Amino acid sequence: MTSKAFITGITGQDGAYLAKLLLEKGYHVHGGVRRISHQETLRLEKLGILQDVRLSEFDLSEMNNITRLIRDNPVDEFYNLAAQSFVGSSWDQPIYAGDVNGLGVVRILDSLRTYHPETRFYQASTSEMFGLVQEVPQRETTRFYPRSPYGVSKVYGHYITTNYRESFGMHASSGILFNHESPLRGQEFVTRKITMALAKIARGSAQPLILGNLEAQRDWGFAGDYVEGMWRMLQQEEANNYVLATGVTTPIRDFVRFAAECLGMELEFDGEGVNEIAINKKTGQKVVEVSEQFFRPAEVDLLIGDASKAQAELGWKATVEIRELAEMMAKSDYDDLR
Ligand code: NAP
Ligand code: GDD
Repeated sequence: MTSKAFITGITGQDGAYLAKLLLEKGYHVHGGVRRISHQETLRLEKLGILQDVRLSEFDLSEMNNITRLIRDNPVDEFYNLAAQSFVGSSWDQPIYAGDVNGLGVVRILDSLRTYHPETRFYQASTSEMFGLVQEVPQRETTRFYPRSPYGVSKVYGHYITTNYRESFGMHASSGILFNHESPLRGQEFVTRKITMALAKIARGSAQPLILGNLEAQRDWGFAGDYVEGMWRMLQQEEANNYVLATGVTTPIRDFVRFAAECLGMELEFDGEGVNEIAINKKTGQKVVEVSEQFFRPAEVDLLIGDASKAQAELGWKATVEIRELAEMMAKSDYDDLR
């Protein structure tokens, strides 16, 4: 019999890649979309799968909407990828972040428990929960110390998932995923902001890329690898929590360098803090500036994950290294601007 899956956040980066993966595996894919003034299905269109998925209105803040949808649409696997996912905005909308990212998870879990407790559940947890890291590298057992309202809200989602597994025997797993990017990444996130601005500069723009803290380090992988890990978690006999990461960390400044290099620019960085700039060595053009505007009230300085549990139990490993990722994204933006 054909397996059925429901994906919240199907219009997002991970939702689109996961939908594609599940369709390739022969699933019926049903996804939740927010009722907004226009429907944002660009990523599903780009992957050529918009016609192959069924979409229903879904909002994580609306209990009755979630309950009805779950009651009337039994599925084998339920992936909760929807979230207010931009850390920077979570200081401006902390209550919304808590409601959607935290309470939204228990709205789903409690509806599943009531109507279809046999459904396998995936929660999109995050390395942002490690925040001010208490151990290097970070693994499933590392103590959380979130540094943003987003991180705090995700800790609730993580623990309530574990709690429903332990309280009611539900097959509920939580993936603690480190940053993962792609050409479908939202343009507010730093990697895509970088590749998009540099691609424009490579095509003749004089507008410099304006960034915030260049010192932060992230463990960046490719989103396509990470959705495979989500699926593998739900194929295990027992539900559990797993870190997915590459095990390599890179400062923002180096990601800028890598993306610039594959667009034919060699950069020279000079200065410190908000006075730092980067110049194109060949042309002398100012390519990067730093502005206070993009600094955060509290920062996560260093993330580097240890995915050895996922490798041992799921047979999962990241396959795309950082330079390859920067090149994939920069080239895609450069080509799209043609
Ligand atoms: P994304 O591209 O920002 O997608 C987020 C999705 O959530 C979008 O489809 C969005 O819908 C939907 N959404 C937002 N608020 C909602 C609400 N109130 N009700 C229903 N849907 C709502 O994020 P992503 O990068 O794919 O990340 C997927 C999940 O993994 C998120 O939970 C994120 O927090 C988590 N995560 C991501 C990473 C990463 O590096 N990408 C790492 C760890 C964890 P619209 O299209 O209408 O905006
Ligand atoms: N967005 C952004 N814009 N970030 C900047 C900028 C800028 O102009 N300049 C420097 N940064 C720094 C941020 O301060 C942060 O340290 C780092 O770049 C990465 O920022 P984002 O790309 O916005 O990602 P994030 O790490 O905060 O959050 C992402 O990864 C989490 C997993 O660790 C998101 O995908 C979250 O949803 C996810 O949970």
